[in-house]
Amino acid sequence: MSIKPDLLLQALKANAGQEPNGDGRISRYFQDGYDLPADWDRVRSRYQEMAGTHLDRFDSPMIDLGRAPGRVNLIGEHTDYNGLPVFPMAVNRDMATVFAPRKDRKIVIINTESEFTERSFDIEQSIPPYPTGDWGNYCKAAVQGLLDYYRKKRRNSERFRGFEATIDGDIPVAAGMSSSSALVVLSALVFLSANRLQLHTTAEGRLELADLLAGAERYVGTQGGGMDQAISLMGLAGHAVKIDFFPLRTQTAPLPQNYAIVVADSTIKAAKTAEALDKYNRRPIECRLAAAVLKRIFSERYEREIPISLLGDLKEERLAVAEAEIWRIANAALHKDPYTLEEIAGILGQSTEKTAELYCKRRDGSIFGEPADGFKLQQRYQHVIEEGGRVEQSVRALEAGDITGFAELMNRSHASCRDLYEISCPELDRLVEISLEAGALGSRLTGAGFGGCTVSLVERKRVEAFMQKVIWGYYRDYLGRKDRDLGKLIFPCQAAGGAGVLAGPQS
Ligand code: GLA
Repeated sequence: MSIKPDLLLQALKANAGQEPNGDGRISRYFQDGYDLPADWDRVRSRYQEMAGTHLDRFDSPMIDLGRAPGRVNLIGEHTDYNGLPVFPMAVNRDMATVFAPRKDRKIVIINTESEFTERSFDIEQSIPPYPTGDWGNYCKAAVQGLLDYYRKKRRNSERFRGFEATIDGDIPVAAGMSSSSALVVLSALVFLSANRLQLHTTAEGRLELADLLAGAERYVGTQGGGMDQAISLMGLAGHAVKIDFFPLRTQTAPLPQNYAIVVADSTIKAAKTAEALDKYNRRPIECRLAAAVLKRIFSERYEREIPISLLGDLKEERLAVAEAEIWRIANAALHKDPYTLEEIAGILGQSTEKTAELYCKRRDGSIFGEPADGFKLQQRYQHVIEEGGRVEQSVRALEAGDITGFAELMNRSHASCRDLYEISCPELDRLVEISLEAGALGSRLTGAGFGGCTVSLVERKRVEAFMQKVIWGYYRDYLGRKDRDLGKLIFPCQAAGGAGVLAGPQS
């Protein structure tokens, strides 16, 4: 076997004319993303391998580097698309790439995982998607989003050129850690960098980019909020980030040094594809219906048009009604029994067809049918409003060093996700119970739900013992798994910095 030269070093030298750590840009790129220097060998061999794969396939004279982190949400689930805050952190697991701009308008992506085979498409006004679930759609989503954005800015898109990129992800896929949004963000940065655009180089530009990519990701068919793209771009090492929406803004909060955030994969797949899409999309639809019903009720009561389009609009400032009063009226108005579409249409004073048309549309224009167990407006409303409140309380608790208070909020959030929003599953519930028994102060599902991961707050000195207990209790006893490398399903995460590219001046 021939020995490959140190391709990573070559790339770094070509990029910045310096060895690693000798240049601020390079150190920042790595230090923001990884646990250096402890991690350097792993990081170096990973990029080295990517560079090797890349140069085997492409004839690039030199390569640039890029990374976009995944995330765990500490608290604030399904609040983002309702206009209420979330509180995630970017993690030291990411989608990374080595890439090179092309002279033509072709985009070619390959992946170090053989199940994700090569994809290639042209930059054109309207890029047709691959079939649902195809990994190439996340790249297409970003490119289409940027093309639309620059078209609105009257930028001549004929000039845009493509790129070729080799991608490697170490974020567990379909585990609720936003590997897909990380791929969207990464593709966007590569596109911007290949075209020497500067959107990602300032804090305001990043917020704008996060906003546009949140919209762009709907290309793959989900109606997610904006959390995942925002945290991937706005993460800060050692910090969780509170994100507010409409308009998008962030506030960082330091994480306690003596505690670790441990992620455990339930191994139940939370893929945002095909049938999973409808489970996820039902929640935003129910929330929109609840907001429409409440708008009607408030407007009638106050005899004026009350401006509510999202549940998060039910705020004192907006309605000029005291918060406790809003809560009282809304609670009295919504009943716990599920609603039929007919009942909702009756309240709104319009036909069922019109109601479905206005509130129950999927992205492809098809109508989401009435669920067999009805629309649960009261439960969804209660979860969303209380969960938004828990985010604010969590930020205050962390700022005051009240770790137990924060952990308690995490536990209440899980109960609400399970009972009111119904996005948990028996495996996630058991994993949370076992985690608490194993010594976590707080534990909850994280992300979209229906599988995926839990996040637990654990005293740093107890992390090893904690993980061992969960491996035995959950993976071995409960799931009956016997494989040796169960340890890779549970790991502590560092809070990492936001996505970045390291591109050479002459590329
Ligand atoms: C998914 C979406 C996010 C958010 C979470 C739930 O990850 O992409 O925008 O809605 O679910 O909090």
